[in-house]
Amino acid sequence: MSASDESAIEGFMRFFEAESGISLSRNKQYLVAQRLESRLRATKKKNYADYLAWVQLAGNEPEKRLVVDLLTTNETSFFREVDHFKLMAKLAKEYRDAGKVLRIWSAACSSGEEPYSIAMVLDQYSGNNFWEIDASDLSESMLDIARQGLYPLRASDRVPQRYLKQYCLRGRGAYQDQFMIKESLRKRVYFCNRNLMSDVDCDKIYDAIFLRNVLIYFDANKKKRILQKVIERLAIGGRLIIGHAESVLGLIDGLEQVQPSVYIKAK
Ligand SMILES: C[S@@+](CC[C@H](N)C(=O)[O-])C[C@H]1O[C@@H](n2cnc3c(N)ncnc32)[C@H](O)[C@@H]1O
Repeated sequence: MSASDESAIEGFMRFFEAESGISLSRNKQYLVAQRLESRLRATKKKNYADYLAWVQLAGNEPEKRLVVDLLTTNETSFFREVDHFKLMAKLAKEYRDAGKVLRIWSAACSSGEEPYSIAMVLDQYSGNNFWEIDASDLSESMLDIARQGLYPLRASDRVPQRYLKQYCLRGRGAYQDQFMIKESLRKRVYFCNRNLMSDVDCDKIYDAIFLRNVLIYFDANKKKRILQKVIERLAIGGRLIIGHAESVLGLIDGLEQVQPSVYIKAK
């Protein structure tokens, strides 16, 4: 990589950190270059420096969003970390029996597999309309996929058969390698763009917040900042659910661990 490309890639890393809060280490330079290469070609820019200068022009918001989308890691799947869905089934029954509405926030929902998995379980176990799911992400392109609810057929491997039957439609013809979440379930999940590094623009309080496999990308100070804001939106006694490979220990007070990767907000 030429010295000028290297310095442009560093410029992209700084831009990405300012937008998302995620700081990519220097050894990710090649990865960043690779992820942006298709845009360099599509926009016919001579090199990364030209592309960076163009991206940074005032008013070039759509391209700025594309760069953020390309640099985020969006890996997810249906029913990932299955214990959390057992907990959802238990809460759905508890809230149903108490006649209370169960409010869930999937706070880095990627392309929607996580909130749709939660929705299937809540619908199944609450047996009524007493539940709400808000799902958010920083990446607009992921949110587009999520709202559409159309996935490659191989992604259905982890969806239990009875849920596939009840909540999904198998594609036909041009869509034969895909499946779709039925509209009746899709319309129960509200998707919106929320940047975890900014103030959460809502005054809703949730009974459970999924913050899974996203803290891992932030340094300790940013993790603390994110956790503080997220916890403000959690009800006393509400659950915070993180990824199994993550930890919040030593980062924030007022949470009690109740099972691996699940915490309760204390009084
Ligand atoms: C690895 S995915 C996790 C998806 C899902 N929670 C799961 O566990 O399967 C991480 C997601 O975090 C999102 N993300 C990264 N930085 C973010 C930020 N500052 N605000 C909101 N979402 C962010 C990414 O766009 C990505 O979709």
